[in-house]
Amino acid sequence: MITIKSEKEIELMRHAGYLVSLTHQYLKPFIKPGITTKELDELAEEFIRAHDGVPTCKGYEGFPASLCTSINDEVVHGIPSNRKLKNGDIITIDMVIGYHGYQGDAAWTYAVGTVNEQKKYLMEHTEKSLYEGIKMVKSGAHIGDISHAIEEYATNHHLGVVKELVGHGIGTEMHESPDVPNYGHPGTGPRLKEGMIICIEPMLNLGSRYVGILDDNWTIVTEDGKPSAHYEHTVLVTKDGYEILTPRLD
Ligand code: MF3
Ligand code: CO
Repeated sequence: MITIKSEKEIELMRHAGYLVSLTHQYLKPFIKPGITTKELDELAEEFIRAHDGVPTCKGYEGFPASLCTSINDEVVHGIPSNRKLKNGDIITIDMVIGYHGYQGDAAWTYAVGTVNEQKKYLMEHTEKSLYEGIKMVKSGAHIGDISHAIEEYATNHHLGVVKELVGHGIGTEMHESPDVPNYGHPGTGPRLKEGMIICIEPMLNLGSRYVGILDDNWTIVTEDGKPSAHYEHTVLVTKDGYEILTPRLD
């Protein structure tokens, strides 16, 4: 079942989403060579709790941290550790925050110091593919319209589309119906209605679309070791379009 949120619920979702944006913005200046992903995670957890939020990932199916931190060839669900960021790395920070029982979810890939042209290309076009998907959102549109727009943009830019992981509905749970794949056909899949809230999250690879999982049973990595980027927004369906509940504050 795809839930339709009431005005009151939307207000709480807006707050949860804004807290996600605020936490990303807070972390940004710390994303520099030398910091460890565990230090970023600790900063985030403290900030989230100080703002009356709950880091939903922590303890979710045994995940041990507040942030997912995925570096270079890591696609998603990287676990914060004592690994230090290096100049030229890219890191995706993905976080879910609960506020009074309602969830916000956004992921952005950041450059650490100066990154090469290939990584810049990957980041730029993965983010643009997200906005191509978001542009399709309005009451009456199909999930497949979003999926297709992302896939087409990614393919036109010769990036590999990860298919094993998908976007999702969100509300009191971080993963609700429907699935929002990053590939598909226009006019297919569930229809969007005003008041639905979904997370759209392309994960694109510089090389092959294929992925594997590390021994930690969480970290998804590219099969060919080439870098991957990931951008995600929580998006409310409105009558004529959409509202991004996790706006970038930079
Ligand atoms: N935004 C991620 C997702 O939708 C959050 C995962 S939290 C984790 O999959 F606990 F599962 F890592
Ligand atoms: Co998500």
